[in-house]
Amino acid sequence: MKLNGTYSIDKFLDEALYNKKFGYYSQSKPFGKDGDFTTAPLITPMFSEMISIWIISFWIKVGKPKKFSFVELGPGNGVFCKTFCNTLKNFPAFKKSIKIYLLEKSEKLKKTQRDLIKEKNVTWIKNLNQIKNGPILFFGNEFFDSIPIKQFEVKKSKIYEKFIEFKKGKFKKFILKKTSKKMVKKLNNFNLCLKDGIIEYPQDGLKILDLIIKKIKKLNGGILLIDYGYLKKQKIDTLQSLKEHKKNVYYKNIGKADITSLVNFQLLYKFLSKKKLILNEIVNQSFFLKKIGVIERAEILSKKMSFKEKSDLYYRLERLLSEKKMGELFKVIFASSKKIKFDLGFK
Ligand SMILES: C[S@@+](CC[C@H](N)C(=O)[O-])C[C@H]1O[C@@H](n2cnc3c(N)ncnc32)[C@H](O)[C@@H]1O
Repeated sequence: MKLNGTYSIDKFLDEALYNKKFGYYSQSKPFGKDGDFTTAPLITPMFSEMISIWIISFWIKVGKPKKFSFVELGPGNGVFCKTFCNTLKNFPAFKKSIKIYLLEKSEKLKKTQRDLIKEKNVTWIKNLNQIKNGPILFFGNEFFDSIPIKQFEVKKSKIYEKFIEFKKGKFKKFILKKTSKKMVKKLNNFNLCLKDGIIEYPQDGLKILDLIIKKIKKLNGGILLIDYGYLKKQKIDTLQSLKEHKKNVYYKNIGKADITSLVNFQLLYKFLSKKKLILNEIVNQSFFLKKIGVIERAEILSKKMSFKEKSDLYYRLERLLSEKKMGELFKVIFASSKKIKFDLGFK
């Protein structure tokens, strides 16, 4: 089976990434040195440990409830969750209260996660209806950047949706089609259609976020998202593709290369606040990790290390924090239901 015909950009991305036969997440080995890209939990366990401590602090903030649901969105190869479970061993009261739910779209990755995570309090879910107890906390690292987006082009103030044509698996051309009034209204709701250029709209992502928000409002709780993205509106095509850690043209090597887009954090902020969640100001990854004590943690860990181990630790930390690497480009957003005010890492 191959791509054949005309697809909207979101439909194309869905096929290229998640088609059960030829999609990237169904057949490739995305993560790590031998894969196509690396994410923060794979750079150093310190990342996941710090997030774990943040999650425990959240639980304390909401009054150490006896039942607490935690959902990881898009767990990838499961390394964050595994480190989280290991960290929990040092916090028995929290460990007793928490149920961990993993929401994963790719069957192949689900298997990878099941092979790694054997803890009894971890459950894989198909949808959020399976979770009954709150408070609830959602966490996603590089989740939104992997969800298909729609693209539009504005030319002389007219808005066209971008489509992509393939013939027997080979890219042919891009096609622009006039956009419906209903769609233009949606884009206008987020002030996206000002001048000529490319508009990116995360329709699928917002649908998922809407379900999450409903759950948070019903059960009380929040959502923490870390992703690479921007705050000021971009008028450019942010789709990018990586194959074996090198840049790839996104409509080539379908199923063998990852494709992501930059997350529009301002749009997420607007969406979450329109739905009446309480938000902290968006910060970057470097600010967030430093505020929750990553430097101090590294100092403690490095005391017992050899020179070689110490250099490796600080090299990895610098990848997370440096402006030129992940520190600035990666942003952190937290939103919660009205009863909860929690700003650890944001102030
Ligand atoms: C870029 S990976 C990030 C993996 C991991 N969080 C990490 O930091 O290493 C994106 C993950 O989100 C999953 N994903 C994408 N869309 C999804 C959806 N709609 N529902 C559940 N999982 C999804 C992918 O299959 C993959 O596991």
